[in-house]
Amino acid sequence: MNVIVMKNADEVCKRASELIGNVVKENKNAFLGLATGGTAEKVYSYLVEDYKNGNLDFSNCETINLDEYIGISEDHPQSYGTYMNERFFNHINIKKENTYVPVTTGDIQKELKKIDEMINSHGGADIQLLGVGVNGHIAFNEPSEKLNSKANVVDLNEETIKANSRFFNSIDEVPKKALSLGIGDILKSKKIVLIAFGKEKKDAIKELLKNDFITTNCPCTFLKAHRDVTIIIDKEISDEIGI
Ligand code: GLP
Repeated sequence: MNVIVMKNADEVCKRASELIGNVVKENKNAFLGLATGGTAEKVYSYLVEDYKNGNLDFSNCETINLDEYIGISEDHPQSYGTYMNERFFNHINIKKENTYVPVTTGDIQKELKKIDEMINSHGGADIQLLGVGVNGHIAFNEPSEKLNSKANVVDLNEETIKANSRFFNSIDEVPKKALSLGIGDILKSKKIVLIAFGKEKKDAIKELLKNDFITTNCPCTFLKAHRDVTIIIDKEISDEIGI
């Protein structure tokens, strides 16, 4: 694993946007694996800025998102579909029909099949952006005895519901389930870039970088089995865990 330490959150996001931008520059048909969450927001700002400066062309790119809540409408202000439109897709020249955020308001089994076909037909994302939950989850693969390899419906655990309640009016409004790509889907990506900043992510990053084992109790540790992963963290985390 390639580990990069940047001085602050802003720089972490800028570096991640450059890695994604490089893939887009090298391959105009790039299939991008995208993430949501507070951590990724600035990555999209930087990509939009780069697009507006004429450095990036998304007109032939395709995208797939990692996850979506179950139980809120597609146009809910906190749906990941809304997040992606507002922060990224509405500001670049990507074709909307080439973007995909899981749809959880219809036939979910059909949706899971569609995701599987999409990932297999592309042979995985050319680059997958990841954040990480405080409990080490990637996408919405929560710590558990067993993890899904392929996309499936998952229960969000209490820690995640609490962490994500900051985006909702109250904790009761946070959905309890989501559709999430599986660990195997993520590991099919050709390149993976995981970003994290702030000391609340330190335990997850410690499991990833300081210990040698892979455990379903901390799903991000599965990234150790991939050959092209870049972890970008801020100095705050690196100081906390001593790297
Ligand atoms: C969210 C998303 C993940 C994200 C993680 C961290 O709930 N499902 O894809 O990486 O949890 O979120 P945040 O960046 O807001 O801390």
